[in-house]
Amino acid sequence: MNPIQSYIAAHKERFLDELIALLKIPSISADPAYSTAVLTAADALKERLEQAGCTSVKIYDTEGYPILYGEKIIDKALPTVLVYGHYDVQPPDPIALWDAPPFEPVIKTTEIHPEGAIFARGACDDKGQLYMHVKALELMIANGTLPCNVKFMIEGEEEVGSKHLATFVATHKALLQNDVILISDTGMIANTIPSITTGLRGLSYVEVEVTGPNRDLHSGLYGGAVANPINSLTQMIASLHDENHHITIPGFYDNVETLSKDERAEMGKAPFQLDAYKKALDIDAVYGEKGYTTNERNSIRPTLDVNGIWGGYTGEGAKTVIPSKAYAKISMRLVPNQDWQTITQRFTTHFKNIAPKGVTVKVTPHHGGQGYVTPTDSIGYKAASKAYATTFGKTPIPQRSGGSIPIVALFEEALQSKTILMGFGLDSDAIHSPNEHFGIWNYLKGIETIPYFYKYFTELSK
Ligand code: BES
Ligand code: MN
Ligand code: MN
Repeated sequence: MNPIQSYIAAHKERFLDELIALLKIPSISADPAYSTAVLTAADALKERLEQAGCTSVKIYDTEGYPILYGEKIIDKALPTVLVYGHYDVQPPDPIALWDAPPFEPVIKTTEIHPEGAIFARGACDDKGQLYMHVKALELMIANGTLPCNVKFMIEGEEEVGSKHLATFVATHKALLQNDVILISDTGMIANTIPSITTGLRGLSYVEVEVTGPNRDLHSGLYGGAVANPINSLTQMIASLHDENHHITIPGFYDNVETLSKDERAEMGKAPFQLDAYKKALDIDAVYGEKGYTTNERNSIRPTLDVNGIWGGYTGEGAKTVIPSKAYAKISMRLVPNQDWQTITQRFTTHFKNIAPKGVTVKVTPHHGGQGYVTPTDSIGYKAASKAYATTFGKTPIPQRSGGSIPIVALFEEALQSKTILMGFGLDSDAIHSPNEHFGIWNYLKGIETIPYFYKYFTELSK
């Protein structure tokens, strides 16, 4: 065992206990009922950053949830790594589908995680992955091997669109000055197939409201004679895709980046087993845009999905009613060169245009952001690649992800530095779903790999 491995072996139980304590705090940013818990999570992390050896640890208040900052500056002449993460989590709903309560972490083994996984909301997204960085810093300071400067910026509004982070970044550029941004908030292909995320999709998230008659009506007396907003809404939504699952909004694909044959062939080399994919989701077929593979559909192609739809009577039994209103929440995942505000505008115009007579449509944009692609020839990417090669014994595969961290594109704009996405989660870890978990092996492997990133980044920067 090398000194990194010895330190982890000696402190493993405490590393787990500390994460478990953090996971007990229900820091759900979307639900105002949990606002105290969100603040508690920020306070708890402040203490942990100080314990790990950070100085100038400070909670910066915003108009929303606070941003936590801490740093360990050893020599201004050395490179600086800025670590970003988020302490807020998604709502755990539907709670009934959890095997154990979402904020009472339990350790269980699974087929994919024979060494055990921590089950709790936020285990992987993002408390577990963020905390790897706190423990990696503790380890490097304790072992006397920290090779460069480190800054932490941890927010509490990522899951609700990072509303106040942009202003914070814009007004604290000197504080946040760095040579590379490091984030663990994505995944990798498998524990035996390490990969580095080289792309994130952009996002446009909107809510639509369709209004018919001025009140709910008796569905016998009025049925057939006035437009039913739920019927209209579902027809409108259905028309947003054609028979090839291509999106029908005019101009939607205008700036979409097209990958070359070679780039697509390179992507196609990433290991992917369709049968295992279908089996893991209990589906008998995959679905999507004609002409693209599953991996392409969920990374280099834009999409449109209904995330929620409601209206009318959904209680027990039956109520014969034509509702006055129908609603849906719709997300569009975007790819490089698509501007999220332009797409939001095009969606709004189109959705209003296709409304049938007899209903009115309101579109409310929620949040969004630009996609991101990071080059594989940067010092940051090379350092990350070498770090994985060292601890996994295999060179990681570059892979674009379908998820979004909208603030990443903004970091590059405001701070002029690249982001390296070193994710240690797996798609099967059920982030945003019931029974979210994070493998103990992954957690410890992350803590082991991160110090090598610092080492190689510092060496390659010379
Ligand atoms: N950590 C995720 C994003 C992610 C997960 C990217 C896995 C790649 C792989 C992040 O917390 C998240 O959930 N982002 C949201 C967007 C945000 C604006 C709410 C998303 O992708 O839905
Ligand atoms: Mn996340
Ligand atoms: Mn998330």
